Amino acid sequence: MKKLGLLMLAVLMISLSSCGGDDANKAKDAAKDAVETTKEAAKDAGEAVKEAADKTAEAAKDAVETTKEAVAGVDGQGLFKSNGCAACHNVDKKTVGPAVKEIAAKYAGKKDDLVKFLKGEGKAIVDPANFGTMKPNLEITKKMTDDQVGAIADYMLSVK
Ligand code: HEC
Repeated sequence: MKKLGLLMLAVLMISLSSCGGDDANKAKDAAKDAVETTKEAAKDAGEAVKEAADKTAEAAKDAVETTKEAVAGVDGQGLFKSNGCAACHNVDKKTVGPAVKEIAAKYAGKKDDLVKFLKGEGKAIVDPANFGTMKPNLEITKKMTDDQVGAIADYMLSVK
């Protein structure tokens, strides 16, 4: 808009000076001014576009951070550790409980069953004789959200 106004002003100046017909140089100067003004306006517009692009990029970066945080909230491995599961379940060695690797092998392709077990709705298939040691921990996983239990199951099944 500002650009258009300035252009019109310049054109007006050109026509005014040429109508007077006295000084061709005046018209030339006015034309030169108009070109300068247009150039400047174009530069301003370019800067505004760049600023907007920068702002968009920043917003996108913020969104990525927020998503990362949300994902971290249901970080299966993190939940497995912070809820004490790792105390009895080593990744690849049997300790008090079976290795996560062994559980993953028994539940391969059966995520739904694993989720059911963690919700206290399934049966122990890995080491049923020692289920008594595991049982109290289901009180922890039973209180978790579906997303959290799903994340733990995903984590356990990802261990190879
Ligand atoms: C006090 C030790 C102990 C803790 C803590 C523990 N477990 Fe266990 N867990 C066991 C034992 C022992 C078994 C073997 C019995 C069984 O298979 O149910 C087992 C078995 C399992 C199984 C296999 C179930 C099956 O079908 O046999 C899963 C899955 C499991 N635990 C997940 C977890 C998760 C998740 C946590 C943390 C919330 C956890 N455990 C905490 C001792 C523990």
